[in-house]
Amino acid sequence: MKAAYITRTGPPEAIQYGDLPDPVPKAGECLIRVKAADVNPIDVYWRAGMVPAPMTFPFILGRDLAGVVTECGEGVRHFQVGDRVWCSNLGFQGRQGGFAELCAVHEDWLHPIPATVKEEDIVASSLTGITAHLGLVGRGKLQSGETLFVNGGSGGVGSCVVQMGKLLGARVITTAGSDAKAELCRQLGADLAINYRTQDVDAAIREFAPDGVNVWWETLREPNFERTVSLLALRGRMVVMAGRDAKPVFPVGPFYVKDCALHGFAMFNATAEDQRPAGDAINRWMAAGLFKARIDRVLPLSEAAQAHRLQEESTIGKTGAISGKIVLKP
Ligand SMILES: NC(=O)c1ccc[n+]([C@@H]2O[C@H](COP(=O)([O-])OP(=O)(O)OC[C@H]3O[C@@H](n4cnc5c(N)ncnc54)[C@H](OP(=O)(O)O)[C@@H]3O)[C@@H](O)[C@H]2O)c1
Repeated sequence: MKAAYITRTGPPEAIQYGDLPDPVPKAGECLIRVKAADVNPIDVYWRAGMVPAPMTFPFILGRDLAGVVTECGEGVRHFQVGDRVWCSNLGFQGRQGGFAELCAVHEDWLHPIPATVKEEDIVASSLTGITAHLGLVGRGKLQSGETLFVNGGSGGVGSCVVQMGKLLGARVITTAGSDAKAELCRQLGADLAINYRTQDVDAAIREFAPDGVNVWWETLREPNFERTVSLLALRGRMVVMAGRDAKPVFPVGPFYVKDCALHGFAMFNATAEDQRPAGDAINRWMAAGLFKARIDRVLPLSEAAQAHRLQEESTIGKTGAISGKIVLKP
């Protein structure tokens, strides 16, 4: 099969596109013909060697896939040949990634694709959508009528958090790096979208939510706790999920006297069972047309290196080069 893989960590050019042996499904696994995969920042960090990551080379990149089951290993109970399926959390704990024509995945990680949903759309909303659901429902415990602030609502995760915030009944404030991206956030349902390059974000938040923000979702790798705590409401919750090297100042007094809480999490620690309710919600909302994918572009899998270059420029270089997910098609 064709696959996009690395034999060492390095720049995007380290990604090779070529032939690797077809995987054989073990007990409990389904063999999937991949129809679509996507690029996530974590895939860039691993490929670049920016974070410690256990990998067996050749290592096939890609966290998410959507495709069709072509073979079932012994004991598979919930899926059969011909089923359309999607999953996240590939390329982790010894699993290979989804940047390939074929991938063997344990059925525990698989979700069915609703009949009306396209592979490109579900794959572009998989890791990001699961992250949004785990953080908003499991950690932030967002309640209907509360105010949610999403710092970075135009990004992969942020655009899912904005949409889910609205679906959960919140008033949603978000930021974006251009007027066009702010408009996209409004189309996703944001009640207030602030251009962080041209507007006074804090003043706009204070005007919209004079009593403070109930849940603050930080997508940036440099959280600013002094700023956040001052804008949180009584019993406000902050969710952080990026910035492994960040060591910002933390205002202990202002934080505890407002009964605030801070939640950090990494979606890859969630078990397949933990992720199932998120997958079910994404399926339900997408099938109903209530939750939409944000796709920047679709490229052939052979252009995986170019896709990684663009993602790296955008997320790490902060060029804003992409708006939505890059989907790859084998
Ligand atoms: N812990 C977890 O489980 C988990 C899961 C998924 C992702 N992550 C991490 O979360 C981070 C975001 O992921 P992603 O996929 O959403 O990345 P992304 O698609 O690259 O989005 C980054 C966002 O940051 C915004 N941004 C950049 N500078 C900003 C600023 N000064 N003020 C406000 N917003 C700004 C961008 O806005 P514009 O483009 O509009 O400028 C964009 O919306 C990454 O570091 C990723 O590794 C963690």
